[in-house]
Amino acid sequence: MSHRPVLTTTAGSPVPDNQNSRSAGPRGPLLLENYQLLEKLAHQNRERIPERVVHAKGSGAYGTFTVTRDISRYSRARLFSGIGKQTEVLARFSTVAGERGAADAERDVRGFALKFYTEEGNWDLVGNNTPVFFIRDPMKFPDFIRTQKRHPRTNLRSATAMWDFWSLSPESLHQVAILFSDRGLPQGHRFMNGYGSHTFSFWNDAGERFWVKFHFKTQQGHRFWTNAEGNAVIAQDRESAQRDLYEAIERGEFPRWTVHVQIMPELEAETTSYNPFDLTKVWPHKDYPLMEVGVLELNRNPAHYFAEIEQASFSPSNIVPGIGFSPDKVLQGRLFAYADAHRYRVGTHYEALPVNRPHAASVHTYHADGAMRFDAPRGTDAYYEPNSFGGPVEDRSAAEPPLRISGDAAWYDHRAGNDDYSQPAALFRMFDAGQRARFFANIAAAMQGVPREIVERQLAHFAKADPAWAEGVRAALEAASAGAPSYLKEGVE
Ligand code: NDP
Ligand code: HEM
Repeated sequence: MSHRPVLTTTAGSPVPDNQNSRSAGPRGPLLLENYQLLEKLAHQNRERIPERVVHAKGSGAYGTFTVTRDISRYSRARLFSGIGKQTEVLARFSTVAGERGAADAERDVRGFALKFYTEEGNWDLVGNNTPVFFIRDPMKFPDFIRTQKRHPRTNLRSATAMWDFWSLSPESLHQVAILFSDRGLPQGHRFMNGYGSHTFSFWNDAGERFWVKFHFKTQQGHRFWTNAEGNAVIAQDRESAQRDLYEAIERGEFPRWTVHVQIMPELEAETTSYNPFDLTKVWPHKDYPLMEVGVLELNRNPAHYFAEIEQASFSPSNIVPGIGFSPDKVLQGRLFAYADAHRYRVGTHYEALPVNRPHAASVHTYHADGAMRFDAPRGTDAYYEPNSFGGPVEDRSAAEPPLRISGDAAWYDHRAGNDDYSQPAALFRMFDAGQRARFFANIAAAMQGVPREIVERQLAHFAKADPAWAEGVRAALEAASAGAPSYLKEGVE
């Protein structure tokens, strides 16, 4: 036993007894001077940090991104500089609505967050397993999320709130269609695609800008659970996706995704029939074909879940020269939300933690002090800027090319004149008979207990996309209602 390290307090002094508290006599009471006990209990009280306000339940792993096609004519980002180039990546997959202890095999959108540790700083692509989203204006995000979380009085999830919001927000229809399709309940994180979802931009050395969408196609194939299978999985294992990912990597079966981009020349955005910056729309492949650019492989499990995954802090605002944003309003809103969340959830210096700091670039800022500053910049007189003492200075070459924008400042109605139906209809028409049957049943199951007028309002949206969609759901609702227990019938929740 002598080779084992001696247990110490946080100050490094040896702990004489880690089995028994120090007491006055064998029966107690305990002595306040037993600071080892106090420290142990106090630390336990501080073991948790606030869970993410969304995407609280997640799994993560490290890996590599390898370039397979030279796209330096589109982007000057060094991570794309040459075939074979490899960049370290951290991935975190998640469900959206459930809390930190939620079961994995629940029908929900999956988060697909990536941190590329590039030599020009960290690039975070904080996407989902869906190419679109429920809203197209960030003003609606807190409202939307409220409908996914618990009702303030009952503390239960509310199907009424979900369908009320969706039926009053037709822009959600495309994402609703994906959620209730087979892809809404993947068997695990390895068996789904990832999407950057938003339109981003690329810019090259010549100062030309292109709009870009990112797609990560699973090489493991798509696998899904039906609702019944998902329920059976949860009865046995609430951590099915975490277990699947962790164990596959331990076995050496490294999951891979083929990485594609769609590219749109800058000025073409003014001519497409749809707004290419609308997060509820895809760019049809026939107009903007997928171009393969690389492979993502996950090949290393984190050594410590809390330190490396719970504290992982992804933000769409982390970009590198050669990659930029777009006018997408939801993306613009997200540029604020994430770092703000991290400062609250993890702390002021979240970005200096080993998992969050750049691994291939160095950091030089003038940010000062704050709670838990744990690095100590080498004694310098350059603690403000400009200075005469050799402190870091800006690099104009990192500035993206100017972006031409115009328009009067106003609250524009994002719902006016927008086609919310053609793209969901195109998806619906791709489903075969089996997919349609499961799709109708999944929607009907999720509508149980929702007041009739809300159901009818939503059915009208389905009908506008495709009458067969509304008819299928109506038939599934009747079938579900015939067999449903009374507490699930209309208006009772
Ligand atoms: P395509 O026929 O070229 O592409 C169809 C796409 O649908 C494929 O990317 C396929 O993914 C994906 N898909 C298949 N089943 C589902 C599902 N249940 N949920 C989500 N995606 C699914 O057609 P278009 O590009 O013209 O798009 C038609 C519709 O396909 C769109 O309205 C949209 O709903 C959906 N889609 C389109 C994407 C795009 O970027 N254009 C991306 C994803 C979906 P895979 O190849 O991995 O099987
Ligand atoms: C997590 C806000 C839309 C994907 C989060 C978090 C916040 C947030 C505050 C928690 C961050 C943390 O504590 O670390 C928002 C807002 C949105 C929005 C305000 C819209 C206005 C989206 C969209 C996507 C997305 C459109 C995908 C395309 C994710 C993912 C995570 C996340 C994947 C989890 C990241 C991780 O694994 O740590 N979001 N979000 N979000 N969001 Fe969003």
